[in-house]
Amino acid sequence: LGRQFIYEQELVSTNRSALELAEAGCPAGLIVVAETQSGGRGRMTRSWFSPPGRNLYFSFVLRPSIEPAMVPQLALLAALSLRRALLEQCPSWPLKCKWPNDLWADGRKISGILCEMNCRDMKTSHVVVGIGVNVNVSREELPPELRDSAGSLCQLAGRALPRADILAAILNHFESDYNQWLADGGLTAFLDEWRSASVLDNCAVKVEQNGQLHQGVARGITPEGFLRLEQADGSIRTI
Ligand code: BTN
Repeated sequence: LGRQFIYEQELVSTNRSALELAEAGCPAGLIVVAETQSGGRGRMTRSWFSPPGRNLYFSFVLRPSIEPAMVPQLALLAALSLRRALLEQCPSWPLKCKWPNDLWADGRKISGILCEMNCRDMKTSHVVVGIGVNVNVSREELPPELRDSAGSLCQLAGRALPRADILAAILNHFESDYNQWLADGGLTAFLDEWRSASVLDNCAVKVEQNGQLHQGVARGITPEGFLRLEQADGSIRTI
């Protein structure tokens, strides 16, 4: 992972560029990094705040031979790799994974993960995993509407942090986790870690599924990575 590397000052979105390169036949493991994104994107058509020179915005191309239904597991896997890589910087950071694709600390979002894929004949042709990490953005630099919900690593550390070291640590962790995941054919080896890393367990949550809002209490994830939602009547809905 990352042996082929594209680094740009500005891109619309590293996910968009990586998807185009994947479509054009680039090798698995290629990574695209940008200093800033003019159209950084998140899940559910949200945008991703991408100021220059502060944070990490990168995407890599994978070509796993898996069923498309397994692809969302990669976001959970990446969240765990990311958390472990960041805890290497500072083991006492209160980093928690939030199903399905975020990293939080002290009630603020630090990082988001966006997996996008392309399928052919019901097989996954390629997956792009895009990660944005708020590293050195200060509270004042965040747009007012994000100030209460977003945080950054430098706010936790009280000092600026080396982005290249953090990127290298994330890629190293993800590469070995990904190989394990491929070998096991799923998340089995990571379920205990998810339990200790998850911020949602036993919390009341509202989740949207196919345009429908479901309320309940989060009760962990299934081995396939679905959220287990305990509903008012005690039944479990998987999302
Ligand atoms: C989310 O929280 O909804 C996911 C956010 C993902 C943002 C990253 S930044 C790098 C990559 N390029 C993008 O356009 N999006 C992802």
